[in-house]
Amino acid sequence: MCGIVGYIGMHRAADYLVNGLSKLEYRGYDSAGIAVLENNKIRVEKCVGRLDALRTKLGNNIPEGNIGIGHTRWATHGRPSDLNAHPHVAGKFAIVHNGIIENYLKLKEELLAKGHEFTSETDTEVVAHLLEDYYEGDFEEAVKKVLRVIRGSYALAFMCEDQPDMIICTKKDNPLVIGLGDGENFIASDIPAIINETRRTFIMSDGEIATVTPDGVWIQDINGVPISKKVFIVSWNAEAAEKSGYDHFMLKEINEQPKAIRDTVSGRINLEEKNIAFPELCWTEDEMKEINKIFIVACGTAYHAGIVGKYYLEQLARIPVEVDIASEFRYRSPLVDGNSLTIVISQSGETSDTLAALREAKRLGARTLAVTNVVGSSIAREADQVVYTYAGPEIAVASTKAYTTQLLAMLMLSIYVARLRNTLDKRTIAGLVTALANLPNAVEQTLKHTETIKGLAEKYSPCNDVFFLGRSLDYAVALEGALKLKEISYIHAEAYAAGELKHGTLALLVPGVPVIVLATQEDIYDKTISNLQEVKAREAEVLAIGFEGDSSLENYADHVVYIPKTDKYLAPMLSVVPLQLFAYHAALVRGCDVDKPRNLAKSVTVE
Ligand code: AGP
Repeated sequence: MCGIVGYIGMHRAADYLVNGLSKLEYRGYDSAGIAVLENNKIRVEKCVGRLDALRTKLGNNIPEGNIGIGHTRWATHGRPSDLNAHPHVAGKFAIVHNGIIENYLKLKEELLAKGHEFTSETDTEVVAHLLEDYYEGDFEEAVKKVLRVIRGSYALAFMCEDQPDMIICTKKDNPLVIGLGDGENFIASDIPAIINETRRTFIMSDGEIATVTPDGVWIQDINGVPISKKVFIVSWNAEAAEKSGYDHFMLKEINEQPKAIRDTVSGRINLEEKNIAFPELCWTEDEMKEINKIFIVACGTAYHAGIVGKYYLEQLARIPVEVDIASEFRYRSPLVDGNSLTIVISQSGETSDTLAALREAKRLGARTLAVTNVVGSSIAREADQVVYTYAGPEIAVASTKAYTTQLLAMLMLSIYVARLRNTLDKRTIAGLVTALANLPNAVEQTLKHTETIKGLAEKYSPCNDVFFLGRSLDYAVALEGALKLKEISYIHAEAYAAGELKHGTLALLVPGVPVIVLATQEDIYDKTISNLQEVKAREAEVLAIGFEGDSSLENYADHVVYIPKTDKYLAPMLSVVPLQLFAYHAALVRGCDVDKPRNLAKSVTVE
């Protein structure tokens, strides 16, 4: 996620801006910049790379001026570059933005037609030109006009050369806080950037527009109705603030999944038309029909997402799919050719085995598509086409929000391809689109079971072995649940196709062994229950994951965690959440380093 800072007061703004941005580095970024009002002119200094690159660029030529805004960019639209870095300027205005302006293409066309000239590929720059276009002398009114036409998610801060005594900021679906000083005030995306300056804050809410001056902060809504806010006193220390008050990045990221899903769906589902769109993809119907096979290649959690993707593509788009572990794919002389599509999935976009597999697929003539969370990553740059997940930076080694957004990307992609190949009727698509729109709320409901899952994790944390069972999509999620548990709690965990148990593994089931059974797939539900009964017959302990309303599970399982009823294809994005929380709490009670488990790295850039 991008980072925003702002300063207005008696000191040199640039000092606070650069220091404030350094406190937001944990959010992940690829470029940085500041804008300062120097001698009543906006001076912008920005560049691609780390903050040190910006410091080097500034050198001793630090902008003088006591009002400014700054930004660290986590690229979404437009690769990392000096020109795409924020702040963006148009006329007398400078702005910084965290989020996604969904309707920027249409707004940009209208502005270009009016003669506006753009310098970047970003969605954000549109906001600066809109402000310039609407400004008739009243800064606040111009900002309100802009907010009436943009769609999407944003935290925004604006500066105007005509108004050297104020910064205006506002938010929708992205965080923004105001630090209240004495004769000076601060703006930031997150508390770590202001905690060393002041602990008195306004935590902004959606729709609030703040006019920040050295002597005070005035807040109104878009209709000019004044809003009074309570001062929030920050009690966290700096480290806790980076985790937004959560004990670990993993728990923070598990809880960020509703927002990650919202951001990844944003601009890709059309609720009126009940359709899926990928503006970034340029396949034609004929090209899609030429594809007679799809290979999905990835590692670890991304590989598990690929297995779910196989079910989606085969069942919805009726295309044969092979899923490979990248380190295997690259050495098995895969039968890839010009009529196949190879999809590589990678959160970091830098995993060495996956990058090598991508290059092998391209060498063999395949068309390639990357599903990745990092704009401008090696895999994103080398694939023919890219579908980004917008989960924001994932800091914990154990992947959580990246996984659910990968599933989301694969489902939306499958619906998109199915539509191009006419293998899915409009009614089915409409049902899936409606379920996708409700998914963030369903995940929020699922997260409310944390206490129940915490108790079960603590109960089973002393065990040496835990088994995960499921069939079809439930089996694919069981694989991910087992990886989560073993990689952070160091408990031996294995996932099995439930029907496979009797072919050997059943020998390992003895009284008391915990077995987690996923039972969300209605078409094979009875078979899964039979397997669950096989497990119970060996006196193993069963924790079942099922849909709310399926109370019959309580007749078979020792414990049941319910997830909100949803379309079977969306069940994986919900059923994985209890498994993530189970792993987190088991690791915690075993005293493991949840965010940095032993022997593991966040991005494996070696073979
Ligand atoms: C998952 O929790 C692990 N951190 C690991 O398996 C990871 O998914 C794998 O290394 C792939 O990483 P990538 O998605 O960045 O390519």
